[in-house]
Amino acid sequence: MPDVVVETRDLCRSFGGGRRLLGGLKPLVRAVDGVSLRVERGRTLGIVGESGCGKSTLARMLVGLLEPSAGTIILDGKPVDERKRENRLDFHRKVQLVFQDPLSSLNPRKTVRQILEAPLQVLLGMSRAERAARVTELMRLVSLRPEFVDRYPHEFSGGQCQRIGIARALAAEPALIVLDEPVSALDVSIQAQVLRLLKDLQQRLGLTYVFISHDLAVVENICDRIAVMYFGKVVEEGSKADIFRRPAHDYTKLLLASVPVPGRRHSQR
Ligand SMILES: Nc1ncnc2c1ncn2[C@@H]1O[C@H](COP(=O)(O)OP(=O)(O)O)[C@@H](O)[C@H]1O
Ligand SMILES: [Mg+2]
Repeated sequence: MPDVVVETRDLCRSFGGGRRLLGGLKPLVRAVDGVSLRVERGRTLGIVGESGCGKSTLARMLVGLLEPSAGTIILDGKPVDERKRENRLDFHRKVQLVFQDPLSSLNPRKTVRQILEAPLQVLLGMSRAERAARVTELMRLVSLRPEFVDRYPHEFSGGQCQRIGIARALAAEPALIVLDEPVSALDVSIQAQVLRLLKDLQQRLGLTYVFISHDLAVVENICDRIAVMYFGKVVEEGSKADIFRRPAHDYTKLLLASVPVPGRRHSQR
């Protein structure tokens, strides 16, 4: 039996659809419409699709920032609703999110130390000394110099800020890390470094990722399996080789046609 970290069953989320104050209905948007996926431990599932197809909505449901309209999320064998009812902190320990915009996802008024210590204190209840040691370890894990830990986010480059975001996600040793367009705001050369770091961390720590991107070339670089989303639905899911060699859905073929061939120069966005 495969060791499944997270599974979604017919997950849905819509927005709007309610009544306006003066009568009439607000338009209903089915942002995520019946998504069933599973991710095995130590693996990376890529979610790819164009802007507005529901990727971030799916990500926010996975990490508990947004309630599903219907369907279930099963995390480490247990429905998330149940988990949250029993122990909300334990749930938040288990799933972490890395955001697209590295700088704005970090509190500008907190030092890196304060940013990294927060989950250690809130989620793990570590003592001051334990936190200090773990913060140093986290900085090393993401290849940042520990002596910079008392600086503020704006003193770092975009790529370094994303490393801080990754360190924060790693802090409480989550079972699942959801990365929502984690390299989309970075230059191509920095993208490659951050992707290498993510792969390296996955190997060393046995991490499980859901990696979201609109960029098929990025997804190809890091994922084992790929799910293609289109208007809130997964139109195709398979191993990387299947998706790239034998795309079944017309939309996937269209996406592939816009990806640079390996060896050729990366196309300009
Ligand atoms: N809070 C919200 N209120 C209303 N509509 C939303 C909200 N969040 C997302 N949507 C809509 O849901 C759809 C999917 O959005 P999103 O999940 O952000 O897509 P993606 O991340 O793939 O670009 C879009 O049509 C978007 O406008
Ligand atoms: Mg998005």
